[in-house]
Amino acid sequence: MSRHEPGERAASERRAAELRESIAHHRKRYYVDDDPEISDGEYDALERELVAIETRFPELRTPDSPTLRVGGAPAEAFETFTHEIPLLSLDNAYDVEELREWEARLLKAIEGDRPTYVVEPKIDGLSIAVHWRDGLLERAVTRGDGAVGEVVTGNVRTIPSVPLRLTRAVAAFEARGEVYMPRSAFRELNRRREEGGEPPFANPRNAAAGSVRLLDPRITADRRLDCLFYGLARSSDGVPPTHFEGLRAMRDLGLRTNLRNDVAADLDAVLRYIERLQATREELDYEIDGVVVKVDRLDQRERAGATSKFPRWAIAYKYPAQQATTVVRDIVVQVGRTGTLTPVAELEPVQLAGTTVSRASLHNSDEIERKDVRVRDTVVVEKAGEIIPQVVKVVTSKRRRGARKFRMPETCPVCGSAVVREEGEVAHRCTGAQTCPAQRREALLHFASRTGMDIQGLGESLVDQLLRREMVRDVADLYRLEAGALAELERMGEKSAANLLGEIEASKRRPLNRLIYALGIRHVGERAARQLAGAFGSLTALLDAGEDSILAVEEIGPKTARQVRLFAEQRGNRELVERLIAAGVDPREESRPAATAPGSPFAGKSVVLTGTLPGRTREEAKSEIEARGGRVTGSVSAKTDLVVAGQAAGSKLDRARSLGVEIVDPEEFERMLSR
Ligand code: IVH
Repeated sequence: MSRHEPGERAASERRAAELRESIAHHRKRYYVDDDPEISDGEYDALERELVAIETRFPELRTPDSPTLRVGGAPAEAFETFTHEIPLLSLDNAYDVEELREWEARLLKAIEGDRPTYVVEPKIDGLSIAVHWRDGLLERAVTRGDGAVGEVVTGNVRTIPSVPLRLTRAVAAFEARGEVYMPRSAFRELNRRREEGGEPPFANPRNAAAGSVRLLDPRITADRRLDCLFYGLARSSDGVPPTHFEGLRAMRDLGLRTNLRNDVAADLDAVLRYIERLQATREELDYEIDGVVVKVDRLDQRERAGATSKFPRWAIAYKYPAQQATTVVRDIVVQVGRTGTLTPVAELEPVQLAGTTVSRASLHNSDEIERKDVRVRDTVVVEKAGEIIPQVVKVVTSKRRRGARKFRMPETCPVCGSAVVREEGEVAHRCTGAQTCPAQRREALLHFASRTGMDIQGLGESLVDQLLRREMVRDVADLYRLEAGALAELERMGEKSAANLLGEIEASKRRPLNRLIYALGIRHVGERAARQLAGAFGSLTALLDAGEDSILAVEEIGPKTARQVRLFAEQRGNRELVERLIAAGVDPREESRPAATAPGSPFAGKSVVLTGTLPGRTREEAKSEIEARGGRVTGSVSAKTDLVVAGQAAGSKLDRARSLGVEIVDPEEFERMLSR
């Protein structure tokens, strides 16, 4: 969190959101529509204001930040860079036989000359090219597709093992290496993420790759990344004749290289290295998936050359995935924070890749069906870089009689609400979005969010405290909080408690569409909530509505209608809504049948206004159209349904004509409004 006043940050956040929207709008007007509404100077002022906010609160920076945008190119977060020497990838060998075949091809290419090899652990991270100029770090570029990568200098700069200055001021120097996340850092990061309700990373490689591509280097700095260099690509001081000497030269300049790298005189020595490393692999603080075998002498490398995809002078020997056999004791179901039900196999504990494994994810019921995993089955589990092992297959020959098939429960094991699986989806979900303890935290945060009931100050840490102390269980409890108890909480005081209660009180006056959205009904986004609010006028009316009448609302499809009904049918949800109403949260909206009546000629139409309309401002015309279920947009495209052309209509009218869009004059427009 920032060290600024929370109110100030929140205000800036709102302003930044407004600015982004406005910038996006004007940018498009300028670049895409070629029809600017404001002067260049005014546009620049918007960007400057946003940059000022982002400088003050860098955590508010987003991928569309003007600070990150390069010229008029498509919105790219990172600059790209073309590698002068492409970053090739390696061919793989999965067993000794394939390794021997590789050597035979190599020997043929270098005509019987006997190579010495360098053997290196193959670290599971992401490769990076780093440039220094006059000894100073100049840029760091991801591999990308091998030819063009992304410039991530700011992030790589935060990795302590990457020197910002070489020991000598070499004029131009480029090295390649692997950025990775040490296992210890990975465990710590995932623990923090799970505590904070964020989804954990599947493996250290994903975590490292994600961290290098974060837009805020301050977060990257917090991720404890590391880097080992494995290749000297270019040096203005000249490159030594062998790779092994190149590794030493890099070390001399202050680059970290792997101390487990070694020289192997022949393929037998390579195989011994592979075995040795495999035996100690679990002692390493990083994950490896094999050994890279490289020809040491650069002149031999040159003669060996490359195929279209890989160099012939190197190969990656991949260790087989680590597997073990064990027995499924039970299959249980976990409910995630968004209500997804995940079946998990509880296993007889077994040693695998240095850890004791007693659970494995089964992902979803389709997976279980496909693999036919049953309780009491003997199964093969595998760890392929992932922290959570997977069930690979059932050893059917060992299936015992009475092995029980798994069935997804029909009610949520945590809260008892109905479980549904939507058409076309693999996941089963709990429908108790508001009442299920597994989903409470998310439900509260969503309810209080800016686009929901906008209860400022009710953020993650406060929600966590309220839940931990059992001061709230669901959103209705928020309206019973008392100042005294609130003031006792961490980082609260009488003043903040009073402020929060003020915010909660104010939330009672939010319009109905916000409340509907804040309830977190699946598929009900802000737009659908607005439509539903307009059509039904009160929460009770919405929950009492039948599926057909929900479906009759403009823009509401069968999936959404079904979910609204499901929500309404859960007793827990009905009780919750009654308590909300009793607490005074019962906004009303005049239901506007016109807005949803399919009969209006504007319902669901995309309309463009151009020229002046006698007796109406553009704003008035726009709200009349919107009140009848239409949308008003700024420019004419093939998607435009109707153009209202007033006096002195210009290029838009021409465009409408050329696209064959329906055009009406002001009199016809008035007639349509009164229909
Ligand atoms: S040498 C042409 N050495 O493995 C030579 N790569 O599958 C290219 N890797 O993209 C790479 N440790 O990200 C090399 N000691 C090592 C390595 C290594 C990990 C990665 C690297 C590369 C991938 C190729």
